[in-house]
Amino acid sequence: MATAIHSSNMRGVTVEPMRAALGAEVDCGDVKSLDETSFALVKRAFLDNLVLLIRGQTLADADLLAFGRRFGELSAAAPVHIGQKPRALPELAVISNVLENGVAIGGLGDGEAVWHSDSCFNQIPPSASILHSLEIPPAGGDTGFTNMYMALDTLPQALRAAIKGKTIKHDMRYTSGGQLRPGYTGEEDIRSTPGPSHALVRRHPETGCNALYLGRRPHAYINDLPLDESEALLEALWEHAARPEASWHHQWRVGDILIWDNRCAMHRRDAFDPDSRRVMHRTQCKGTPVIEGADSAPRHSRAQPAR
Ligand code: OGA
Ligand code: MN
Repeated sequence: MATAIHSSNMRGVTVEPMRAALGAEVDCGDVKSLDETSFALVKRAFLDNLVLLIRGQTLADADLLAFGRRFGELSAAAPVHIGQKPRALPELAVISNVLENGVAIGGLGDGEAVWHSDSCFNQIPPSASILHSLEIPPAGGDTGFTNMYMALDTLPQALRAAIKGKTIKHDMRYTSGGQLRPGYTGEEDIRSTPGPSHALVRRHPETGCNALYLGRRPHAYINDLPLDESEALLEALWEHAARPEASWHHQWRVGDILIWDNRCAMHRRDAFDPDSRRVMHRTQCKGTPVIEGADSAPRHSRAQPAR
C-alpha cells in the first residue's frame, strides 16, 4: 500500500497527514465539484489516514448526502425520538444540543460522548460517518479519534493471545447515548441479553488490514469468558486503545467536514457549554458484515506510531 504519512499534491488535491497517529487534512476545493479522478484521491487518502478533515464547505443537506454517496450507499438514520420532528431526508441525522419549543432538534446533547465506534449494537455497523458543522460553540465540543489498526499492532503479546478468535457482544437494549430502548429493562445478565457479536480482530474489507474492534465499553461482553474475566480483559484493551499517543483531536470551525472510517477508528466528543449552540448534520454509509482478521493480513501504513 502507498505510504500515507507524507503530504501529497495531485490534480489540485492536497493531502496533509496530521502529526498524530491518524487523520489528514485534505484541500480539494468545493467537494460538490470533485471529478472522478480527484474523488479517487480523496478516497485513497481516507483509507490511508482513517479520518479526513475538509474545511470551508458550504453544503445543503442534499449536497452532503450526494458527497456521502460517493463513499458508499447511505444508510437510513436511526428513528427520531418521540416528539421530535420526522426526518425530512431519511439518511440525514442532526447532531445537536439545540432545543426548539423544548424539543431537541437532534441527538447527542451537550455532554461528553465517550469513546465508541458508531452503531456497534447493530449486526452491520456503518462503514463511514460524514459530519458537517453548521454551528459550533465558542469552546468545547472537540471530536477525538483513535487508531484501531495501531491499537492492534501495538497490543502487548499477552492481550493479543487472550483475544485470539474471540468475539465481543454489544447489548442492543441500549442506545448510543446509554439509555434503555423502550420495552427493555436493565437488570438482565449481559451474557444472555440480545445483541450482535463481532470479531475483536476484524478485517477491513477495503484495506485488507486487521484492526481491533471494541465498539463501546459499557454493555459489552467478550463471549465465552466468565463475566469477571471479560470485564478485566475489556479494561485492559480499553486502556490500551485509548492511549493519548494513538489519538488525534479536532477543534471545529463552521464549514468543516470530518469523515471517519468506522471500521478502524473510534471517536469521542468533549462536553460543551449547554447555553451555546452546536449543530452538525451527519450521514453514514452502509457497512458490510464484520469478519475476523486473517493472521496473514498486511500491516496498515499508519499502524505504527510515526518516529
Ligand atoms: C457521531 C458522533 C461526535 C461529535 O455523530 O456519531 O459521535 O463530535 N459525533 O458530534
Ligand atoms: Mn458517534
